[in-house]
Amino acid sequence: MIRISWLELLQDIQSCKSCSLHENIQNKVPGQGNPNARLMIIGEGPGAQEDREGLAFVGPAGQLLTRMLKAIDLERDEVYIANVVKCRPPGNRVPSKEEADACKPHLRAQFALVQPRIILLMGSTALQQVLSPDMRITSARGKWVERKGIFFLPTFHPAALLRDEGKKRDAWHDMQMVRDKLTELEESSP
Ligand code: URA
Repeated sequence: MIRISWLELLQDIQSCKSCSLHENIQNKVPGQGNPNARLMIIGEGPGAQEDREGLAFVGPAGQLLTRMLKAIDLERDEVYIANVVKCRPPGNRVPSKEEADACKPHLRAQFALVQPRIILLMGSTALQQVLSPDMRITSARGKWVERKGIFFLPTFHPAALLRDEGKKRDAWHDMQMVRDKLTELEESSP
């Protein structure tokens, strides 16, 4: 497999015009964090604040994500955070299949560079783009899917938790699953 470098990937993202999303943005939002993280988190796409700052998950949903990570003793800079699409969809709409497909080489490259052992899929866009378009977040959340030694855990998107407090209990359960899996992996590979 030919592997591109981080620098090439960031340049590719910055110059990408593979779909029309780039036409209405202030900044590309490639993703950020520990390039060797065991845990990679995938969201949907940048919102308004992310678009202004060029950083993933820095708005209200991102602040909740930071607290959720802290609750399992993780700092943001210990994990790698990315989105399915790197450009903000107008009005925060869900990215189309074509837009997500156009951006997929970037996500694949991030995955190949980070080589995480665990991937937390936040919300249905991440779930459907990464695992299967037929999966539903309500039934898939909280259940591990293992593929080629990588553990995927679908969970609610933090924006959904902000809209519906009733989902927080399940989300907390999912975060504990992540913590337990990280511990298990650390114990089995020193
Ligand atoms: N929602 C996402 O899915 N990603 C972000 O970066 C911010 C909000």
